[in-house]
Amino acid sequence: MSQRETWATRTGFILAAVGSAVGLGNIWRFPFVTSEGGGAAFLLIYLLFILLIGFPAILVEFVIGRKTKLNPVGALRELGGGAWKYVGYIFFVTAFVILSYYSVIAGWFVRYSLIGVTDGYDDAMAQYEDQAAEQETIPADILFDTVATGLDSMVFHAIFMAVTVGIVALGVRRGIEAAVKLMVPALIILLIGLAVWAATLPEAAAGYQYYLSPNFGEIVANWDELLPAAAGQAFFTLSLGMGVMIVYASYLGEDRNLAKDGGIIVTLDTGIAFIVGLIVFPILLTATPDPDGELLIESPIGAIFVAVGDAFSTVPAGTVLGVLFFGVVALAALSSAISLLEFVVAYLIDEHGVQRKVAALGAGGAIFLLGLPVTYDLVFLELLDYFADSVLLLLGATILVIFVGWIIPEVAKDELSKGIGPLGSSGEAWIWAVRIPIVIVLLVSLALGVMDYASFLTGDFADWISANL
Ligand code: PHE
Repeated sequence: MSQRETWATRTGFILAAVGSAVGLGNIWRFPFVTSEGGGAAFLLIYLLFILLIGFPAILVEFVIGRKTKLNPVGALRELGGGAWKYVGYIFFVTAFVILSYYSVIAGWFVRYSLIGVTDGYDDAMAQYEDQAAEQETIPADILFDTVATGLDSMVFHAIFMAVTVGIVALGVRRGIEAAVKLMVPALIILLIGLAVWAATLPEAAAGYQYYLSPNFGEIVANWDELLPAAAGQAFFTLSLGMGVMIVYASYLGEDRNLAKDGGIIVTLDTGIAFIVGLIVFPILLTATPDPDGELLIESPIGAIFVAVGDAFSTVPAGTVLGVLFFGVVALAALSSAISLLEFVVAYLIDEHGVQRKVAALGAGGAIFLLGLPVTYDLVFLELLDYFADSVLLLLGATILVIFVGWIIPEVAKDELSKGIGPLGSSGEAWIWAVRIPIVIVLLVSLALGVMDYASFLTGDFADWISANL
């Protein structure tokens, strides 16, 4: 992506953006943070965030990119003046941090796909039956623990990172975009099939209750935790808050309707995450029924692995389907990981004149090292993931929204109208929303996110350090 070519077709752009957006955020992170947020209470806030903030914010990145046809650092410098270019450093750090643990989790998907090939999920689970009975949990929970940390986790992190580096170093992203065309429909079909199957489970109703029926008292009581968590998840899943969408839109022709393209991306991405919830919660509440309808698994972080692993150990042809499912998700993660590494590499090439191969290998190696502690203990996953989500992405998004709302509102409206026609009052509404309410909600979320992260550092993390060092 070094020359200023434009996307040959509209689908080319949408596919690349969807390839970046659809990934572990939808399949792994969404069910995990939803269960941490108590289910439906989280879902409601999250959906509101996507609609009222995620959608306007994706347009913010699109207009900056298409207007300047530059990378995020150059784009902010050109539109805002010299000091704005420093915002690019935050984006750089964000991509670096996210990819470090993203690769570890993608490695788990690769590993799970291989477990199907070597053992089959039924046999893999059978090994842990006694241990599970002892610990009052289900075998799928124990299997997840064995995959998540240790040597296996490290090796698969290395493999996944090596593939990502290879593709970015050779600059062969085009093939991946073609793969997205197959992968996203395949993923959707698999997910719908699983959701239909999950609906037939004995505790499906309890699962839906947990996932879909919010308790408003809970929302009011926990708003200070729900808000930053939902905000972070919304930006993470849409690849927003670090300039990735600025990059993609910089290759876009002026005849494209940004609002429509943004709408398609947001709908697909949110729809996929929503279906994942329809699968995970009925399965988990059936596998570990609880009279109070709470989720009883040891590792919420592994909710998707535990739920789907458990399901594939019982359904007919579960092994074949499982290999396919975990494999397709690993591919979806690969297209997102490539967008993250490409971002770091493009920055090193554009701003520091580093050679592509050197940049890919150097950055990839450093990112691999940063992710290593996660394979040792999952407390490091929280350390990196909360920092990226509750702090860095919210900070990046807040800055971009302030930039468009306050520094370049006229330019932004004008750019958005290209390919759409006169915007009239909806253009005003967009800028108005971006200028005041969205900035306020983001600032509040960011402040809460920083405080939550600080209490994690001084609480759980400090405890871990003093217990282990
Ligand atoms: N949106 C990706 C996902 O949901 C993750 C990502 C975040 C990719 C930020 C690029 C930038 O998995």
